[in-house]
Amino acid sequence: MVLAAGQGTRMGPLTESTPKPMLPVAGRPLVAHVADAAVDAGASELVVVVGYEAEAVRSFFGDSYRGVPVTFAVQEQQAGTADAVRAARSKLDGAFAVLNGDNLYDPAAIERLFADGPALATYEVEVPSNYGVVSVTDGVVTDIVEKPEEPPTNLANTGAYVFPEAAIEWLDVPESDRGEYEITDVVAQMIDEHEVTPVTLDRWRDVGRPWELLEANETLLGELDGNIQGTVSDDAELRGTVVVADGATIEPGVVIEGPVYVGAGASVGPNTYVRGATYLGPDVHVGNGVEIKNSVLRRGTNVPHLSYVGDSVLGQDVNFGAGTNVANLRHDGADVSLTVKGERVSTGRRKFGVVAGDGVKTGINTSLEPGVTLSGGATTEPGERVRRDR
Ligand code: TTP
Repeated sequence: MVLAAGQGTRMGPLTESTPKPMLPVAGRPLVAHVADAAVDAGASELVVVVGYEAEAVRSFFGDSYRGVPVTFAVQEQQAGTADAVRAARSKLDGAFAVLNGDNLYDPAAIERLFADGPALATYEVEVPSNYGVVSVTDGVVTDIVEKPEEPPTNLANTGAYVFPEAAIEWLDVPESDRGEYEITDVVAQMIDEHEVTPVTLDRWRDVGRPWELLEANETLLGELDGNIQGTVSDDAELRGTVVVADGATIEPGVVIEGPVYVGAGASVGPNTYVRGATYLGPDVHVGNGVEIKNSVLRRGTNVPHLSYVGDSVLGQDVNFGAGTNVANLRHDGADVSLTVKGERVSTGRRKFGVVAGDGVKTGINTSLEPGVTLSGGATTEPGERVRRDR
């Protein structure tokens, strides 16, 4: 079961019309990487729980995915992860696995998880107090506690589980202090009644905030194999791993330093420099005279003349006026902060640029300061210096 009903409010404007699991990671929706891990690990059926912007997720999967049948359950309100599983209860008839639809899992470990149920996947983190923290004694999970002030271990719960059939009856958990029905309570009962195997992931990323989308792309773009389907000018230079999808065009004078993914129908150049790790979605246009570095540009976005875009995430159909430049580094060298659900939060990155929602338009010669978020449809005037979100 893949949980993909949440809105992803922490992604800010990027999820104003796209559910978080459908945001692009290295050329595929985030949730496709989750489904791949499940299918590679031997899943015989996928149940996808949908809610926010459900149609986008449904139409991506259809009724089968890589030969595995797919069905959907609708969670009407995003009332928590146990509630999401409960929405699919009628489809369960035996032991079952649950994965978050917005996490990047290490596929080999998911295979071990599926083989070792009842089981729970953990990941060693530096600051466990931000997570559900798992205790293990003699190779068996003994406890799970949500965001403890004094974490007993550094093992975070990663939202990947194999439950025994009996868990179908345990889904009616009480409402938690934060007003949700949480799968942690189902896990606690599983720990009480079964020997639960901890499976440690070598790699895990919870993709919740815009810089985590950037970092997820960095990771998976780094694992792609180069592949040139589109048209590349003889006067362009491609270094490192570069994917140029079908119908994409690379014009003269372009230098691309991978890992870079150029989506179907996109055009780059002339005279443009694209540095990794960068994802250019379908029908994106960048150049003349543009530099893009470590960024994600979604479908239909244009950065057509004399611009710099670094460490940024641009939504769909964004248009940067000529000479729009993004600053991605503070003079004091401090980490760049970003607004997440109304609060300024450190990205933990010295280099981070901007986040632009769908349809943003900047006037010519706009300067965008580090950590600015532009909500969907926002505009700037020619020559503006943008220091605050809008
Ligand atoms: P979260 O990342 O906690 O929630 P979210 O995706 O809604 O994001 P945000 O907090 O930014 O609004 O969710 C963890 C996983 O569970 C994720 O895969 C989405 C899924 N989920 C549901 O399917 N239904 C729910 O009611 C909730 C809360 C989450």
